[in-house]
Amino acid sequence: MKILVIGGGGREHALVWKIAQSNKVAKIYCAPGNAGIARLAECVPIAANDIDALLEFAAREGIDLTVVGPEEPLVNGIVDRFIDAGLKIFGPSKAAAEIEGSKRFCKELMQKYDIPSGHFATFDSIDDAVEHIYKKGAPIVVKANGLAAGKGVVVARTIEEAERAVYRIMRKREFGAAGDELIIEEYLEGEEASFLVFTDGDIVMPMVTSQDHKPIFDDDEGPNTGGMGAYSPAPVITDGLFRRIMNDIMIPIVKAMATEGRKYRGVLYAGLMIREGMPRVLEFNARFGDPETQPLLMRLKSDLVPILDACVTGHLAKTMISWDDRPSVCVVMASEGYPGPYEKGRVIKGLDAAAKVDDVTVFHAGTAAGKEPGTVVTSGGRVLGVTAIDDTIPLAIDRCYKAAHRISWPGAQYRSDIGKKALKRLSSRTI
Ligand code: AMP
Ligand code: GLY
Repeated sequence: MKILVIGGGGREHALVWKIAQSNKVAKIYCAPGNAGIARLAECVPIAANDIDALLEFAAREGIDLTVVGPEEPLVNGIVDRFIDAGLKIFGPSKAAAEIEGSKRFCKELMQKYDIPSGHFATFDSIDDAVEHIYKKGAPIVVKANGLAAGKGVVVARTIEEAERAVYRIMRKREFGAAGDELIIEEYLEGEEASFLVFTDGDIVMPMVTSQDHKPIFDDDEGPNTGGMGAYSPAPVITDGLFRRIMNDIMIPIVKAMATEGRKYRGVLYAGLMIREGMPRVLEFNARFGDPETQPLLMRLKSDLVPILDACVTGHLAKTMISWDDRPSVCVVMASEGYPGPYEKGRVIKGLDAAAKVDDVTVFHAGTAAGKEPGTVVTSGGRVLGVTAIDDTIPLAIDRCYKAAHRISWPGAQYRSDIGKKALKRLSSRTI
C-alpha cells in the first residue's frame, strides 16, 4: 500500500513511525512532515490545510489510504472531498468533525443525549455575555465557539478575567471568526484525562487511557499549551471508570452522531474531567491527540494500518487490537518563549545520543533540516516529544528524562514533572 499522512507534528511522526512497521506498506508520504518524519517517509511540501493540492497529489500518486492528523482539514471537509473523488481516507466527514469545529454543536449534542458535561450558555452579544458572567460568578470558563488552535479557551479565576476574555474574543477578535460566538461554561474541577477510541460509526474500540499536561510550567502553572507531555495509562481511570466512560459517554456519542445523520468514522477523543470517580466531558476532538498519540502508539502492539482501514470500511468488529501492558511516557521539549512568540532555526544537539537510550523514540514536531548537512534545527513551538516505554511508570519517566537530558539547544524548555500525578495516584492507592 501507499499511504499519505497529513500533518507535520509529533503526532504525525508517531503515526508515520507506527505505519512504517506495517508489512502492508510499501511507501509512505507525509505532507508537509518534518526532519524526523523525513527519515521514514517522503515529505511533500504541501500544507496540511491545502485540500486541493493534497487531493491532486493523492490522485496522481495513486495513494491507497490517506490519514489525517490535524483538525483543520477535517473541519474544512477534506474527507468528503477525497470520498467524492473515490479516494480512501481515514477521519470523520465535515458534518461529523463539527463535534470539534463547533463547541456549541458539541455542547448541544451532549445536552440532547444526556452525556455528562458542564452547564453552558452561548452568546453573540458582548453585553449579554458579560451580564451572564456577573450573574454566575467566578471561576467560569469562556471559549470562542470555533477552532482556535487550542488557544480560544480562558479558564477565568475572577469575574474581571472572564470579562476581559469576552472582549478579547468578541471585540478584539483575537481568534478571528472563531469568536463570532461565545460559549460560557461551568468551571469543572477535578483531574483531566484523555480517552480515545477508534470507531467505524457503529463499533467503538477503546484505546488505552492517557493523560496530557497542558500548562507550560511544572505543577500546572502558566498558560495552556498544545500539551507539554503525556503518559499512558492514566491511573485516574480505574477499570470501573473505564466501563462507565464507554457506556455513558463514548458509545452513546457515536450512536448520537449516527442518529443525527453525521455518522462518525475515525478517532474520537474525549477530553474528560474526573471528580470523585465521575467523568464529565470538557470537549471532543475529531482526531488523535498530540502528544497523547506518541505514548499510545508506542504501546500499540497490533499493526495500525488494518485498524485504520477497518474504521474506513466499516469492519472494525472483525479487528483485534492489542496493547503492551507496559506504561509509556512522553516529555515535550519546546522553544524558548513558547506558547508565546519564539525564534526558529536553533541547532539541536544530542539527538543521536538520546536515540541510544534503549526503548526510547524521539518524535520530532517543529524541526527542519539545518543548513549544515546532517544538522536539525528548531522550526516550531513544540520541537520534540521524547517518548519511552518501561515496566513501571517511574522507570518509564526516568528513561524518558535520561534521553531528554542528552538533547539541547539554546533556550530549550521542558517540564520536569511529567508523570508526577500518576505517581501520586499510584502511591496513594498502595497506602
Ligand atoms: P478545551 O480546548 O475545551 O479542552 O479546553 C482547554 C483546556 O481548558 C482543558 O484541557 C482544560 O484544562 C480547560 N478547561 C476547558 N473547559 C473547562 C471547564 N469547563 N472547566 C475547567 N477547565 C476547563
Ligand atoms: N493534547 C491535546 C490535543 O491534542 O488537543
